[in-house]
Amino acid sequence: MEGERNGSSEAFMKIPEIKFKKLFINGEFVDSISGKTFETIDPRTGEVIAKIAEGEKEDVDLAVKAAREAFDYGPWPRLSGSARAKILMKLANLIDENAEELAALDTIDAGKLFSRGMDRDIPAAADLLRYYAGAADKIHGETLKMSGEFQAYTLLEPVGVVGHIIPWNFPTSLFFMKVSPALAAGCTMIVKPAEQTPLSALYHAHLAKQAGIPNGVLNVITGFGPTAGAAIASHMDVDKVSFTGSTEVGRLVMQAAATTNLKQISLELGGKSPLIIFDDADVDKAADLALLGILHNKGEVCVAGSRVLVQEGIYDELVKKLLEKAKTWVVGDPFDPSVRQGPQVDKTQFEKILSYIEHGKREGATLLTGGERYGEKGYYIKPTIFSNVMDDMLIARDEIFGPVMSLMKFKTVEEAIKRANDTRYGLAAGIVTNNLNIANTVSRSVKAGIIWINCYFAFDKDCPYGGYKMSGFGRDMGLHALHKYLHVKSVVTPIYNSPWL
Ligand code: NAI
Ligand code: MG
Repeated sequence: MEGERNGSSEAFMKIPEIKFKKLFINGEFVDSISGKTFETIDPRTGEVIAKIAEGEKEDVDLAVKAAREAFDYGPWPRLSGSARAKILMKLANLIDENAEELAALDTIDAGKLFSRGMDRDIPAAADLLRYYAGAADKIHGETLKMSGEFQAYTLLEPVGVVGHIIPWNFPTSLFFMKVSPALAAGCTMIVKPAEQTPLSALYHAHLAKQAGIPNGVLNVITGFGPTAGAAIASHMDVDKVSFTGSTEVGRLVMQAAATTNLKQISLELGGKSPLIIFDDADVDKAADLALLGILHNKGEVCVAGSRVLVQEGIYDELVKKLLEKAKTWVVGDPFDPSVRQGPQVDKTQFEKILSYIEHGKREGATLLTGGERYGEKGYYIKPTIFSNVMDDMLIARDEIFGPVMSLMKFKTVEEAIKRANDTRYGLAAGIVTNNLNIANTVSRSVKAGIIWINCYFAFDKDCPYGGYKMSGFGRDMGLHALHKYLHVKSVVTPIYNSPWL
């Protein structure tokens, strides 16, 4: 945290020219019908990067019409799996070839680390596409063992037109986490990126066209949630909505589905994930994991380890280590390769986090470090650690979505399990111990969609994740995600002595 790092990025990286600012409908970049635009902001400075077409209901209608046509009559769902795979592989290569520009777009739009984008986020998005490309020609049903005089089998068919509504914390990763399995399944789609981060989604649309994805299959509508997002969620011709974002909006999406065409939905709604560190842990490694768990991507991570439960025997030692290490955590311009934490995505998020910090102080938690903005401009917040956090404090219950750690002390394994589960969320959990029995017991007892033992954020394309409880339902990644975009159809015919013959 030493030194001013949030100065000019020019020293580190040339900001790319913003080439795509319009809606992408039926294979073309078009203005919104209203002609309206909105500003997307650089969180390093609060300055406007570009004006982007603001899609609303009428634009969503056009995009859904294109996707509907492409699904009902177009080639994409009718292509062989291997033909679709070839195009997806081509798109994956184009992502790799344009990695630098894509990573830079997500850095200026979302404040994400450029180095991380280059090393991980962008190549992993390309790999995820390749993973689902590999699955596209292996989508098949089963032969059924019927008890009567029938022969039967199942077919897996694409669900149809999909609406993907995504947030701003991982613009490229989430875009491909949603569209890759849906494309492999043969669906057509409309993607609505978050209003905070529209830039890379439009670029991906351009690459998709270049790769040969037919017109109408992948449409991108930039715009706001209550207008463009709500229009997708309530559209009668959208067959499924895959949503990632806040619990509050998850409810709205579910309501919209319930009151219109009962479209299928899947929801990934964030969490308040526990990282549980037991007495036998290596304190140095545990401190690294705990810091990474809450500070990675400036805490704007659905699976962030925001509640750090530490067994009493090592609590004091761990706190000491955490404070030492937090001091070396460099905050600043996300283009600077030595920086580990960039700015929060926007002013709203920045102010929300600072207000949670004030709440924590008022409720009587002990602020050990941070707790305030960093620098004079932009939306930077110092890594913040609270100790003596009680389970009923707001900072222990709400998803803050910022670099704010809540430390809690526990005595026994049973207590750790009970308190880890004392949350309305259930997305992820971390366990740090070398005791196999503790690791097994806790991983089976904590209600969460992914458990990391002696690691954290260990994502892999073959490893599904998603929520228990109010973290939502449905899984992203892995082959489970492919099945979100497939219907099961049973086909039955009489045989032998069936009375039907
Ligand atoms: P949000 O839920 O409002 O935004 C997510 C997406 O939903 C965006 O594309 C937005 O335009 C869209 N949306 C908003 N209102 C909508 C509506 N009525 N109908 C359809 N779509 C709509 O999230 P927001 O306000 O940006 O962040 C608030 C909090 O949500 C964060 O502080 C964090 O706690 C949580 N969050 C969780 C995420 C996760 O990964 N699960 C990601 C982003 C935010
Ligand atoms: Mg919002």
